[in-house]
Amino acid sequence: MMNRGARIEQRRARPQEPVGPTLRRIARLHRSHWLSVAALLVVVITSSIVGVGPSLVLQHIVDDALPGVAHSGGDPSLLNVLIIIFIALVVVGAVAGVLQTFLSNVIGQGVMYDLRARLYRHLTHMSLRWFTANRTGEVLSRVSNDVAAVQGVVTDSFSGIIGNLITVGSTFVVMLMLDWRLACFSVVFLPFFLIPARRVGNVQRELYLRTQEEVAALNSQMQETLSVSGALLVKTFGREHHEIARFEDTASEVRRLSIRRAMVGRWFMFSMGIFSALAPAVVYWYGGHRVIDDAASLGTVVASASLLTRLYGPASQLLNLNVTVLSSLALFERIFDYLDLEHEIADRPRAITLDDVRGAVSFEDVSFSYHRDGRRLALEHVSFDVPAGKFAALVGHSGAGKTTCAYLVPRLYDVTSGRITVDGHDLRDIALESLTAAIGMVNQEPFLFHDSVRMNLRYARPDATDEELEAAAQAANIHDVIMQLPFGYDTIVGERGYRLSGGEKQRVAIARAILKDPSILVLDEATSSVDTHTERQIQDALERLTKGRTVIAIAHRLSTILKADVIVVLDHGRVVEQGTHAELLARDGVYASLYRQQFADEPEAEPSAVDDEAAAAAV
Ligand SMILES: Nc1ncnc2c1ncn2[C@@H]1O[C@H](COP(=O)(O)OP(=O)(O)OP(=O)(O)O)[C@@H](O)[C@H]1O
Ligand SMILES: [Mg+2]
Repeated sequence: MMNRGARIEQRRARPQEPVGPTLRRIARLHRSHWLSVAALLVVVITSSIVGVGPSLVLQHIVDDALPGVAHSGGDPSLLNVLIIIFIALVVVGAVAGVLQTFLSNVIGQGVMYDLRARLYRHLTHMSLRWFTANRTGEVLSRVSNDVAAVQGVVTDSFSGIIGNLITVGSTFVVMLMLDWRLACFSVVFLPFFLIPARRVGNVQRELYLRTQEEVAALNSQMQETLSVSGALLVKTFGREHHEIARFEDTASEVRRLSIRRAMVGRWFMFSMGIFSALAPAVVYWYGGHRVIDDAASLGTVVASASLLTRLYGPASQLLNLNVTVLSSLALFERIFDYLDLEHEIADRPRAITLDDVRGAVSFEDVSFSYHRDGRRLALEHVSFDVPAGKFAALVGHSGAGKTTCAYLVPRLYDVTSGRITVDGHDLRDIALESLTAAIGMVNQEPFLFHDSVRMNLRYARPDATDEELEAAAQAANIHDVIMQLPFGYDTIVGERGYRLSGGEKQRVAIARAILKDPSILVLDEATSSVDTHTERQIQDALERLTKGRTVIAIAHRLSTILKADVIVVLDHGRVVEQGTHAELLARDGVYASLYRQQFADEPEAEPSAVDDEAAAAAV
């Protein structure tokens, strides 16, 4: 919920970057489309050259074909030929215009596609640290709004700049050839455009940046407060008015900035419009005097005046493009900022691939901080071993570092010091893909996509057959529940779909993990209590899931703890005790007191239930 002041402060802290490198980077984006770029150049050059033709024909019509000073009677057949040439040139020019639109869209959309795909690919590989530090709405805004906003620039500016430059250049050359004095006299107004164009560009760039920041803030607020959990919070705390006011405040800032941005450009256009309209008057005045003095032909003056539209129009478009490009640089900078983010967790060169994982996991003197500068350690000198196929339970008070330990195993974060090994290999030496394949994780709050139950399960193994899916669901004690859903396995669940209860979701997550069949399982048990029947079903499911694997479980159930081969007791990020349940109880230390507080009154603690459990495990 960063406020506007903080946003502006943060931006001011970053000086406006020089435009050169950004422009070069934008140019490099076009490199893979060189063939279309080359074709576009040919079309643009052709259409610019063809464009001056009609004016030259006009000169000949006035001077040679029409009745006048030189040819008192006129020349009807020459007039016919000239008009046909005139029409042909116009048609060729128009066709070239269509081709130009097509090619510049092919290039522009190609660049947009590359940019979007690269952004998504890059962000997908960002570490969990980055996702926890950034607001989802803000990220979405950059990927969708910013990319969409530069689309017009990429599509139109390249061909626009080249085309207009060639048009202005070729037109001016032809005007010089017609009558150099008149040509020089016609461009007197051009410099008046150049100075404001740059200033307008810079102001617009700043306004654009601020607008996009406010839009991102809007998106992020909508994303937070219009989602189920956010809406629930807003309603239960009765903060609707506050949220509405906050939204309207940001939205009105967007309105103010957008109007300002439009008007900055508009006054500039206004002055350009006036000067362009005045130019022909100057040409006819000066040229007219030269015709009267017999220094120029009438055709030359008419041709020059008609060429003016090809001079002032493109020149003003060029300056406008300059403004657009300058202002869009801000957006490109925002996109490039994201593309430049470093991938914190990545494969080392020559990373090893695990095949045939046994699944021994060791924490060796692991310290870890969530902060990159290493302050406030969440784990300090944590060491414990989980031999292959054994079951370790992590216990400890809230905030002791259990979830943190669990995150380190699939390398969602890298350790700050020490190392974690799987089968003796440092995690950082193992190819991420093979590490991920070896480890399964069941979270406290499992996430389901807005998709059918079938597709959610299959996420674990896209090639699983329907029979395998059902077997996994049966093992997880969720098959019957799924069969009772309106469309069975094809019922849409997840974010906006049919809502499964907490206990049902957990079992879907367990089924998903069973399907994945990992050698190492990291299990963050849900803390929320469920009724005894559901509890029994989840326990059953977990029993089947954990069998034959290395398990690191954050245990909130006594039954889980009792199953453990080793219990690791964490306190303030340190391992304070480890051993079996009986050993730790006998020590009468932290575990014993934790046990008395949290577990002793659970029904499973009754001796008979425990015996059942042990007997079941032994079979
Ligand atoms: N993303 C994060 N950034 C900074 N600090 C964090 C982050 N996540 C957790 N911490 C801190 O790390 C410490 C350990 O947190 P952890 O989530 O591992 O606790 P836990 O043992 O799982 O607790 P609980 O039983 O409540 O789930 C806590 O002090 C917590 O505030
Ligand atoms: Mg936790």
